[in-house]
Amino acid sequence: MRTQVAIIGAGPAGLLLSHLLAEGGVESVVVETRTRDYVESRIRAGILEHSTVELLKSVGLGDRLMREGHEHRGIYLQWPSERHHLDFLDLVGRSVWVYGQTEVQKDLGRAREAAGQQVIYDVRDTAVFDSTEPHVTFTVDGVAHRLDADVVVGCDGSFGPTRAVVPGTTWQRTYPYSWLGVLADVAPSTDELIYAWHPDGFALNSMRSPTVTRLYLQVPADTDIAEWSDERIWDALSIRLGHGQDGWELTRGPIMEKSVLPMRSFVQAPMRRGNVFLAGDAAHIVPPTGAKGLNLAVADVTLLAPALVALLTEKDPRLADEYSDRALRRVWRCTHFSWWMTTMLHTSPDPFDAQLQLSQLRWVASSVAGATGLAENYAGLPIGF
Ligand code: FAD
Ligand code: DHB
Repeated sequence: MRTQVAIIGAGPAGLLLSHLLAEGGVESVVVETRTRDYVESRIRAGILEHSTVELLKSVGLGDRLMREGHEHRGIYLQWPSERHHLDFLDLVGRSVWVYGQTEVQKDLGRAREAAGQQVIYDVRDTAVFDSTEPHVTFTVDGVAHRLDADVVVGCDGSFGPTRAVVPGTTWQRTYPYSWLGVLADVAPSTDELIYAWHPDGFALNSMRSPTVTRLYLQVPADTDIAEWSDERIWDALSIRLGHGQDGWELTRGPIMEKSVLPMRSFVQAPMRRGNVFLAGDAAHIVPPTGAKGLNLAVADVTLLAPALVALLTEKDPRLADEYSDRALRRVWRCTHFSWWMTTMLHTSPDPFDAQLQLSQLRWVASSVAGATGLAENYAGLPIGF
């Protein structure tokens, strides 16, 4: 097989890249280890920042998002006995949208299918070769295949094979806690997300739809999910989110899914070697507290697609040469914001930290300067920042 761009991974980065390349007249083939069903039902992120929404709308992927997604003006920041609303629209003129990554995946999957995009699911043994003849090899049902391309892009997430052929410097940080994530079949108890600091640990009240709630609890890094019965989860959420305070109630319901998500930060630079590029989680991951992972993947491919179109159709290498540096500016901004949100909201064994966190939260909630900084980063900086 031969194509212009071989894309490894059919997550949001890989499928959106194939969509944007097609808009620019560049052909691609996507290879993916999982099945389409698996990719489209994987429960992950839920918040789209302003520039992600604008980008999806501008390339014909916004119809269902506008119909079924929910625009939020801001978030609530909370600590015991206080809850404050930060209004991003008032503060920075931008909002965010609640729309699950599963739905983004489905919209992308349908759009690529309608356009006749070749996505090869359920592959094994993917290997990437960077040379004067860049290519990818893989097997399907035990049969070996070779895909030759002008360019290979690793959109294969944090465990994919492409990063290994793009040597560089890596920076990483692990956090001593995880998130226990819960999907519950119950109407959200809040109109907008609640980020709650509590001496027992952080809690987040999010949602997916008017009937489905998404919740998270800070738990120790080595937590075994079997230790957390549904009742224990709801009890911890009630305490940390302030059930009963000022008449607010957390409504309980059947838990449909629960899992423990480790937290770490990772950045690899540069995001290119020769004809092999990296985008999304393949190059960087952030802890989820700032809701940035999916949005960063979208921002990367929004920069990369025009760069590859110029490179392959006009033989103009300038944008491709700038890609890594430009993408990394935003990556580090989001890495810092995610670290800042994480360390401000997650409790540590050191009581000194608790006082610093509460002081920081009070400042963010009461100062226009503090609130604007959070709003600008959460609602998202412009693409190309
Ligand atoms: P991915 O979505 O990881 O896609 C990579 C794709 O490559 C996958 O489909 C994978 O199967 C495929 N692949 C891997 N190896 C190979 C191979 N050898 N050959 C072919 N294909 C391969 N972000 C948030 O903002 N909020 C959240 O709550 C949140 N929760 C998360 C929970 C989990 C468990 C994880 C892993 C991530 C979460 N994230 C969250 C992060 C967010 O989902 C990611 O940042 C986003 O999915 C990045 O998109 P991507 O396309 O770069 O990578
Ligand atoms: C969700 C996940 C996040 O990491 C976050 O900061 C906000 C919401 C969610 O899955 O809904």
